[in-house]
Parts: sequence; C-alpha cells; structure tokens
Amino acid sequence: MKKIIDWFDERIGIRELFGHIANKQIPGGASFWYVLGSALLAIFALQVGTGIFLTFYYVPTPDHAYASVKFIQNEAIFGSFVRGLHHWGASFMVVIVALHMLRVLFFGSYKKPRELVWLSGVALLLLVLGFAFTGYLLPWDQKAYWATVVGTNIAATTPVLGQFLLRITRGGQELGALTLSRFFAVHTYILPASLALFAGLHVFLIERIGASGTYNAEKAAKKTEPLFPHQIYKDSLFFVLIFGAIIALAIWLPSMLEPQADPTDSSYNPRPEWYFYSMFQLLKIFEGRLEIVGTMVLPGALFGGLMLLPFLDRDPMRDPAKRPAVMTATFFGAILVVVLTIVGAQTPQTAQAAALSPTAKLGQKVFDSKNCTVCHKLNGKGGAVGPDLTHVAGRHDAAWMDKFLTDPQAVKPGIVMPKPEITAEERKNLIEFLQTLK
Ligand code: HEC
Repeated sequence: MKKIIDWFDERIGIRELFGHIANKQIPGGASFWYVLGSALLAIFALQVGTGIFLTFYYVPTPDHAYASVKFIQNEAIFGSFVRGLHHWGASFMVVIVALHMLRVLFFGSYKKPRELVWLSGVALLLLVLGFAFTGYLLPWDQKAYWATVVGTNIAATTPVLGQFLLRITRGGQELGALTLSRFFAVHTYILPASLALFAGLHVFLIERIGASGTYNAEKAAKKTEPLFPHQIYKDSLFFVLIFGAIIALAIWLPSMLEPQADPTDSSYNPRPEWYFYSMFQLLKIFEGRLEIVGTMVLPGALFGGLMLLPFLDRDPMRDPAKRPAVMTATFFGAILVVVLTIVGAQTPQTAQAAALSPTAKLGQKVFDSKNCTVCHKLNGKGGAVGPDLTHVAGRHDAAWMDKFLTDPQAVKPGIVMPKPEITAEERKNLIEFLQTLK
C-alpha cells in the first residue's frame, strides 16, 4: 500500500494534496450542522450512477417510454430497485438542499466574503428543481403527462414572452414527442453538466475561502478543528444514515407507475410530485387574472430575494439571535412553503370521474371528443381562448347552458365559440357533465 502511495506521490504529490484538504480548519470545530453539503455531493453521485443505469433501457419517445419504464420496473434485473433509488434520491436531494440552505441562513454563512458561494448555491437549488421537473415527465404515465401540462402552462403566463416560452418548453403548442425528447435531453445532458459545473464552483469557492464554521465569534476564536478526521467522521455517519434510508425506501416503497399517458382524458386531476405541491397550491389560490401572482410574482420574489440577500444584509453580525429580520423572514418563508405543501397534498389524487353519474360520464366523452379544451381550461389544462370551465356550474344553470350550447351566437352575438356539432342527446349529457363542475 505504502509503495503504491509513494508511486503516486512521486508523480502527482497526493500527500501534499491530501494534507492540504484534510488540514482545512473549521472555526469552532466539527459539527453535525455541516454534514448536509457533502451528503448532497454523495446523492448527486448516486443519481448519476442510477440515472446511467436507467438510460440503458429507457427510450424517450411517446410510443416506447412507458413500455421501457415498465420493463425496467418488472423485468430488468434490479430494475425496480435502481429506479426506486433514483426516485427517492431525488426526494432526498430536494429535502437536503432545503435543509442545507436553512442551515446557511441560520448561521449567516452567506455573508461577506461568501456572496459567491451563496449565489452558486441558489443556482444549484434551481438546477435541482429543474431535475425534478424534467425527470417527472419521463415515465410518460398519466401523472407525468398531466402534471407537465400544468407545469408548462406556468411558462405561458410569462408576460409578453409566454407563448414563445411555452413553445420552447413543449417543442410545439401541445405536449408530445418533442416535449419528451426535449425534457430527456435537458434531464440527462444539460442539467447534469450544469450541476457538475456549479457544484465544482461551489466547492472550489469554499476551498478558497475556508469553512465559515460557527456563528459564535468567541467560540470560533477559541477552537478550530481540521476537516479530517473530525468532520469527515461526522459526514460519513450521516452518509450511512441517509443511504440506509434511501435503500430501505427503494425496497419497501418502490416507485410506482400509473396507466400510460392519455392526452384525450380531460377528467384526470393532475398532481405533481410532492416537492411541487406548494407551487401547485399557489396556482389554485391565484386563478384567472391573478394567476400570474402565483406563477411569476411570488416565486420571482422568493428567488430574487434569495439572490440579493448577501448584498442587502451587509451587517457582519452572524449570531442568529441578533438578526431578527432575516430569522423572521426565513421562519415565515419556511412555514409558508410547508403549509402550502400540506394543503396541496390534501387535493384528491384520483380523477373526479369516479363520482360521475353514467350520463355525466357520457357527457364527459362528448366534452373530450369535441375539442372543447382547445379553447377552455378544465382543472388547469387547456387553452385560454374561452373562460376556464373548472367552476362553470357556479356561473350558469342547466337551462342557460342548454340555450347557449344549442347556439352560442344566439346568446352571445359575435362570440368566437363555434356551434357544437352534437345531437340533442349528446347536449343533454354534456350539460349534465358541465353541471358537475362547481
Ligand atoms: C374556438 C374556441 C372555443 C371552442 C372550441 C369552444 N368554446 Fe366555449 N367559449 C369560447 C369563448 C371565447 C367563450 C366566452 C364567450 C363570452 O363570454 O364572451 C366561451 C364560452 C363558453 C361557455 C360559457 C362559460 C362562461 O363562463 O360564461 C361554456 C359553458 C362553453 N363555452 C362551453 C363549451 C363547450 C362545451 C365546448 C365544446 C363543445 C366549447 N365551449 C368549445 C370559445 C370556445
């Protein structure tokens, strides 16, 4: 062993390199508070490894994606386990990124001279969310498809550029083959490369500037500990703990697969992965003309605020007890996200279709087959030419609908809505369906 190390030492000086890294001092000493960052690096490695395994089988086209994931799930050796690791790894990544950020906020570690470390961290947070969003579509099952319809609709609410951004993210007006290959390319090429770049930058900056350590200046002056062995030991313990948890979850709660995506099924109630529940709930709170508050204004304010934080908060004091403004904002911000997530989780998961009467179900078929959603939104999906029909029964009774759907022109002259080409029977069923939309 010593000979091998000598061989490398002579050529690339690994003893000096290791000594340099291992002897980095941590002001105030090692602590379990500091284990989150290295855990994120480890989970990223896990995601890359399991992700590469998944690409051995996965086919990013609408007619094969679902079957290929099903194959991974049911046939490929260790397929379900590896997919489970990738799935739970993603969830852990989001949670630990959030905890890591809260720790840095709490310790005031974003302050001068660590502004660049913080900014690269905010970029990493966005990249992690980008991973989660693009990965969700890939299995091409019902929830993947419809959650992405809602998610990409958010891009369309951007002022001026909305339709343009929608076409870029979808690769066209509708969600289809181009959306899938685009999401796949972003998820497997662009984001991993970007994340590696920014994570490298993040670690490099920390390496240059040194660990920030405790916020307690007295304690920091009294005691320091080198990275190795104290911190590395704590990091490794945490490591074992979360990898144990991810492995256990992958075995006992494997990732599921819903029925294959059906773009004609408007009754499906879309629901994103849990880490986007808060965003999803905002979409529900701000409807119609206020939609942009939930899609752009609040998220924009949150990320804008995060980026500006080290430049606004320039007081060198790091003790959380003496920084009430930032601590209060952090506290309420975190509570808000948690509450929105919990409320979002209460939304019924399955289609409302189960509760429909047989005639209303027939009416829903009429609705789906007559392209009403080209112009109308229902449950967050569809066009914006006509009004959102999600709660239309609250505005019009059956008699009004009957007159209107017999001849829209007669009720509202000059309206762009074409006269529905349906029989009287179909109209009756359609109205029965529309009357369930309260
Ligand atoms: C070409 C686009 C288009 C299509 C297709 C279309 N609509 Fe409409 N619809 C509109 C517009 C625009 C209005 C709003 C008219 C107004 O209030 O001035 C409207 C209004 C309505 C309303 C009244 C909503 C309200 O809140 O006042 C109902 C109900 C309705 N449409 C049902 C349907 C049904 C059912 C179908 C499918 C058979 C359909 N529409 C297809 C454009 C369309």
